[in-house]
Amino acid sequence: MNLTKKEKSMLDGEQGEGIQKAMEILVALGEIYGAERMIEIKSAQVAGVSYKNLGDAGLEFLKEWTEKGAMVRVPTTLNPAGMDLREWKRLGIPDGFAEKQLMVVKAYERMGIKPTCTCTPYLVGNLPVFGDHIAWSESSAVSYANSVIGARTNRESGISALASAITGRTPEYGYHLEENRKAGLIVDIECDVESISDFGALGYMIGRKIGNSIPYLYFKNKKNKNISQDQLKTLGASMAASGAIALYHVHEVTPEAKKGNINIIDDAERIIIEDLSEGYSALNSDVTEIDFVAIGCPHASLNELKKISNLLKNKKVRAELWITTARKTKGMAGGLVKEIEKSGAHIVSDTCMIVAPIEKLGFRNMATNAGKAAFYAPSHCGLNVRFGSLEKCIEAAVTGRWEW
Ligand code: F3S
Repeated sequence: MNLTKKEKSMLDGEQGEGIQKAMEILVALGEIYGAERMIEIKSAQVAGVSYKNLGDAGLEFLKEWTEKGAMVRVPTTLNPAGMDLREWKRLGIPDGFAEKQLMVVKAYERMGIKPTCTCTPYLVGNLPVFGDHIAWSESSAVSYANSVIGARTNRESGISALASAITGRTPEYGYHLEENRKAGLIVDIECDVESISDFGALGYMIGRKIGNSIPYLYFKNKKNKNISQDQLKTLGASMAASGAIALYHVHEVTPEAKKGNINIIDDAERIIIEDLSEGYSALNSDVTEIDFVAIGCPHASLNELKKISNLLKNKKVRAELWITTARKTKGMAGGLVKEIEKSGAHIVSDTCMIVAPIEKLGFRNMATNAGKAAFYAPSHCGLNVRFGSLEKCIEAAVTGRWEW
């Protein structure tokens, strides 16, 4: 790779061992993918925060890097941890887990990273603009940044995103290059796609069908003229989970598919989706008793909190209900938090139903309206899942049952 003088001095260790290690990782990555040079990035989002996934080996690795004096040099935010960093006791998180989790977050903080602990950094201040080069990990955030904002990032691992944060650089390959951002497949969506769970089911189906290529979506139904940001965030999260899709275009909606800019390769294939039943049935088990309901994957926006608050008015929940959201979004929600928690629900920050040690909390059957959570919960948390609309999930939280 062609490195600048400054980058060479990082690689040679002249700026400290911590930076040297980061540059070594990025150069190795660049060489694997045939990058010719490094480019400067505007921000980083670092995943690999939950102690459930990191374990002791990951914690030691982070501590070592911190001891080598590594500090981030661009604005850097953190993905969800394994627990609410303030209210973990109330949620029943075991003391031993909490102790280790707090050490993980401390290590990141010592590197200068903000402990935002959310997968929606774009809702809480880490908001790139069109064309910005960034290095983000967390598949749903990568999808949102690339597709909805038009920023440029590869689907980084926690380690490569951290190395980029420390050096302020990323190797120039993949989605940083204009020519790699064209769709290879057209998807005609001919059915109604309305609720968040509809978008989750659709995302699951597209991801399953096309793997990790770039889809160009045509929503044929007039109702889908004004797709909301919440719908796009859940669609992207779901496609990223079932198919590793890091970039998608929606005709006349996302920035690289607007104003006649048809961003598709010449010989793109075409598939048609006529209904969502395949997605709903793949993400559903047949359990009827529900002891856990999880909303907010990706983390809930203010708008979503408002909807949930309306649905919970004058109701008491029987099942454990977690609504996961960024701590900052919770702060912005003001009185809504009290309104929602009056029902017995918990607004949970810093974590989510997948990266928290849910399997240690005794739950068996979860209801959710999120395609990504429904996809991962059986394998990552050992839960049976019911997947459906927000209304249905709230009803399940109140009755403790899933009725068709
Ligand atoms: Fe976020 Fe957890 Fe879903 S990290 S995208 S809420 S699985």
